[in-house]
Amino acid sequence: MLDAKIILKDIPDKRQDKDTTSLKFKHQLIEFFKDDEWRNKTCLEIGTNKGYTTRVLSFLFKKVITCENNLDLFQYAMNINQDRPNIEFQQKDVYNTNWDFSDIDVVFIDCVHEYPAVMMDINNSCRLTKPNESMILVFDDYGLPKPPGRLKDVKDAVDEVVEKEERFELVKYIGEPEGSDCRPGKLLKDHEGVICKFTNTQLSIFQRVVDDELHNIDNRLHLGFEEEEGLRMPDEYLEAQNFTILRMASGIGDWGILSAMPRLLKQKYPNCKVNVPSKTLLRKIFGKDHNNVETIFRNNPYVDEFVDSVEGEIFNDHYRVYDKTNTDIPLIRQILKFWQFEDKEMEDCQPEMYWSAEEETLGNAIIKDRTDGGDFGCLLMSDRFGTQFGKHHEDTFTKDSKVMVDVLKSNPLPYFYFTHKPIKDTPFKFINKALDFRNMDLRIQLYIKSKAKINISNQCGTSHLSVRYSECFESQRQFPISHNFVEGIKYI
Ligand SMILES: C[S@@+](CC[C@H](N)C(=O)[O-])C[C@H]1O[C@@H](n2cnc3c(N)ncnc32)[C@H](O)[C@@H]1O
Repeated sequence: MLDAKIILKDIPDKRQDKDTTSLKFKHQLIEFFKDDEWRNKTCLEIGTNKGYTTRVLSFLFKKVITCENNLDLFQYAMNINQDRPNIEFQQKDVYNTNWDFSDIDVVFIDCVHEYPAVMMDINNSCRLTKPNESMILVFDDYGLPKPPGRLKDVKDAVDEVVEKEERFELVKYIGEPEGSDCRPGKLLKDHEGVICKFTNTQLSIFQRVVDDELHNIDNRLHLGFEEEEGLRMPDEYLEAQNFTILRMASGIGDWGILSAMPRLLKQKYPNCKVNVPSKTLLRKIFGKDHNNVETIFRNNPYVDEFVDSVEGEIFNDHYRVYDKTNTDIPLIRQILKFWQFEDKEMEDCQPEMYWSAEEETLGNAIIKDRTDGGDFGCLLMSDRFGTQFGKHHEDTFTKDSKVMVDVLKSNPLPYFYFTHKPIKDTPFKFINKALDFRNMDLRIQLYIKSKAKINISNQCGTSHLSVRYSECFESQRQFPISHNFVEGIKYI
């Protein structure tokens, strides 16, 4: 339990020492970081001065690292905090040395208050934030009036970043209010301080493909265009009715979500031509090719040609219309919206496949051989099973195992299965095994999956291709799932 009286014993207000924060600021720091979770975290203070706020922070966090370039102040701060063993004092110039700190959760920025310095502090702090994690940044002297001759200061820097960087948000103001005389000789023109949060969501590169060449345009938080921007496929392109569809990602599931598009385009534009890229074109654009376009579109009666070259622009899947307030709109709908489809024209947009008569004969023969002619299921355990961000994650492993075992146990059927390691080493070794079809041609696997009563998998693009034909259960890995889903999947 934090006791503000003990924490603030002998600590001055800004009215007594202009370089430190006000007592109100310090009280509100204690309040903001009152939850136990912070007791496990590390705070970095930029600008120690006499170590007064440092002392307060040392009660709130497991560890405080504080930086000061002035030797006298550095020693003073160490002296008054001798009884606080969790403070690491560093005498360094923060503007001319590397910020080689690790595992920082909070940065208290209170050093040089000029705009370029604050911008450096912000950039350096954001760089310390791990991918997909957040950092709290606390700023002092946000509302301090500018001294004569200074054009921009703390407030200008913070306001600018909050406005321009979507991942950087203002959480709350802190300390004395606008008009306060806490700083001797000056009146605050805004709140004394501000607390912000930066979330290091990975940016995506918006890419265009023009005359078979790939161009990186810019880095964005969201690919595509916001609904209200009103940007859609140019009318001239639609009028020419010679379409090529292209995904910038290369996975089977990535391409699978486009598989209904040729039919939908032909329904909307009966005389149009629909092309998909050949391996030659994929190589020209990306420097490498893959089989997934072929796997998805072979035998599709709505695809006219696998093309080796396209003159002008291919409007790839980065051209999409998203709704910032609703991340759960399937990507195919976002793409079709850019292609000027109305909602009713894209109702039937689940993935679809077209197998040849020979493929059907082969698939049916395998099913007949391995089952008694009754219902069967398919199990898919991909290498993303039990992982988060590509690494083993114990909670996800436990959850994936449990929900998939539950569905398998309540559906005791013979199962065709694909597991990324031998099934005897998985939580699914108990199933009634029809056949390990891991090494079978992918289109035949997909045919068998389409005939299964149920499909069970961890979150994986391949299972999306069966949802039109079979009841599909998928153990969700991403929360929220964002647009990476297909309608009809039962997420468990
Ligand atoms: C406003 S005071 C910090 C007050 C302190 N955080 C508190 O709340 O009590 C700013 C401090 O930054 C220090 N400073 C200025 N330039 C610096 C630099 N380049 N590197 C490290 N510290 C610097 C100053 O010496 C000064 O002590």
